[in-house]
Amino acid sequence: MNEYMKSCDLGIPYPPVKTEGKNLFYASLLTNDYAGIVSEMSAVSVYTYQHFVTVNRKIADTLKCIAIVEMRHMEFLGQLISSLGGNPRIAVQSGCNCSYWNAQYISYETNPKCYLKDNISGEKTAISNYRAHIKQINDKYVRTLLERIILDEEHHIKLFCALLEEF
Ligand SMILES: [Fe+2]
Repeated sequence: MNEYMKSCDLGIPYPPVKTEGKNLFYASLLTNDYAGIVSEMSAVSVYTYQHFVTVNRKIADTLKCIAIVEMRHMEFLGQLISSLGGNPRIAVQSGCNCSYWNAQYISYETNPKCYLKDNISGEKTAISNYRAHIKQINDKYVRTLLERIILDEEHHIKLFCALLEEF
C-alpha cells in the first residue's frame, strides 16, 4: 500500500453487517444507494474510469483508493439487501419494478478540475440520500452502518476538495 492508498482510509472500524430481520421496503430503499444513478455502483465505476484516464499520480492513486472503499460500501449494501430478504441484483427495485444499473449513469469527463467538482457533488447527494434513508429505516444495525458509510463519504469530499485546491 503506497502513501496515497493509506491516506484515503479513515481508520475507524465498521459495525457488524446485519439486520434486525427481513423488511422488503427497507431493502428496496437501499437498492437506490446500491445501484441507482447516484449509488455505490456508480461511484465504483466512475472513480475507476477516472483512475484509468488520469496521468497525475497522486490524483489517480487517490481515485483508486476511494473506488476500493466504495466497493466495500457496495458489498455492505448487497449484504444488507440480502439479509433484509431482497435480491442484490445490480438494479433499483421496488415491488415488481426493476431498473438495472446502466453505464450511461456516469460521467466520462476526463478533466480533473471538472470531474473532482462532479465527484464532490455526487458524494454530497449520496450523503443526503443516506440521511433520508436513515430516517425511514427503523433497524438499528442498518442505521449504524449507514452512519459509518456517511463518515467515509464525508472524508472523500475532504480528499477531493484538497486535490482541487492543490491542482
Ligand atoms: Fe460510498
